[in-house]
Amino acid sequence: MLSLILPTYNEAENIPDLLPKIRSVLKGIPHEVIIVDDDSPDGTWRIAQQIAHDLGDVHVIRRIGRRGLSSAVIEGFLSAKGDVLAVMDADGQHDVALLTTLHAAVAEHGGIAIGSRYVSGGSVGEWDERRYMLSRIATRMALALCAVKAKDPMSGFFAVDRTSFEEVLPRLNPKGFKILLDLLVHMPKTTPVTESPFIFATRRHGESKLSRRVQLEFLEYLYDVSFGNWIPLTFVKYCIVGGFGVGVHLTSYKLLSIFFAHGLPLTETGFSLALLGAIETAIIFNFWLNNLWTFAHAKLQGMGMVKGFLKYNLACGFGALANYAVSTYLYSYGLGEITSVIVGACAGIVWNYTMSRAFAWKNA
Ligand code: GDD
Ligand code: MN
Repeated sequence: MLSLILPTYNEAENIPDLLPKIRSVLKGIPHEVIIVDDDSPDGTWRIAQQIAHDLGDVHVIRRIGRRGLSSAVIEGFLSAKGDVLAVMDADGQHDVALLTTLHAAVAEHGGIAIGSRYVSGGSVGEWDERRYMLSRIATRMALALCAVKAKDPMSGFFAVDRTSFEEVLPRLNPKGFKILLDLLVHMPKTTPVTESPFIFATRRHGESKLSRRVQLEFLEYLYDVSFGNWIPLTFVKYCIVGGFGVGVHLTSYKLLSIFFAHGLPLTETGFSLALLGAIETAIIFNFWLNNLWTFAHAKLQGMGMVKGFLKYNLACGFGALANYAVSTYLYSYGLGEITSVIVGACAGIVWNYTMSRAFAWKNA
């Protein structure tokens, strides 16, 4: 049996056209269709439920408070009954007629069958130069990591046999769009792969959900798979935020020192006030960006955010002490001035990161 998953977010206008087409193509194959909708504001789930009511082989999963293409697909696969699991865009961009080919390939050889834009006969259709280049670069980078090689590892149109999927399931990363890539990264090298060409059509209604955030998540994923075991991704993000924090610190120091100087030479008190103001501004900035990005998966809100912010301030205060202690200790032991300062700063960063995780963003 073939289980076809259609992940949807705001596809209310596309779903009614698509389902009859799928039905007629899959006439001869026992199948079920599972629509996984993330509570779309345009009510896709309601329209899908109405259709499901009329057709016996369509199911709708309406997820509340959840977002994400990969996680929707995984959830669909998990609730499927078939021994062949397939997925396609619900917006008319994927060629429905190819479903029988993908199904036949997996039913016969097992493994994965991909609807591919990058094998001969396939094409990305009417993409602008920018999206084409981005996709090519992303594909190159992704390929380096795949155990199982394919020409189009980023395709959203493929079928996989249940056993292969279940074997890698515990290692899958549900963030973002790259479900196929994630499967190819984790599957054994010997997994059979077939690729069949199709031409990526233009979206019928609505717009793409492949946002900048999804693109950033893709880069994070590449890092996580390649180096994440040595240096955790959250630490790298924390350091990047810290890097921007230095910029914020210097800029706000400059502005505050001008403000406190009143056009005269800066007094000692003026200097201290400007410095303290700059430090706190940098702390606020770092807290905000870490909460939004580094620890997005454990984001603090409301009162939790206020408490987290106070703990973060405390951690940074001790971090500054740790920095100071390490630097002066090393310097007193005859280490060079610059080396002492740098090693101390690194100690401060590691301290801040560890304390932030332990106290401010406890669930990270
Ligand atoms: N449930 C759910 N939740 N569905 C989602 C979400 C989400 O957060 N985000 C997107 N979808 C659904 C869309 O409604 C659509 O049916 C399908 O997933 C693909 O999303 P699109 O927004 O149409 O993506 P695209 O056409 O720009 O991107 C295509 O090409 C990429 C590679 O270039 C897709 O085929 C991607 O899967 C593919 O990685
Ligand atoms: Mn699409």
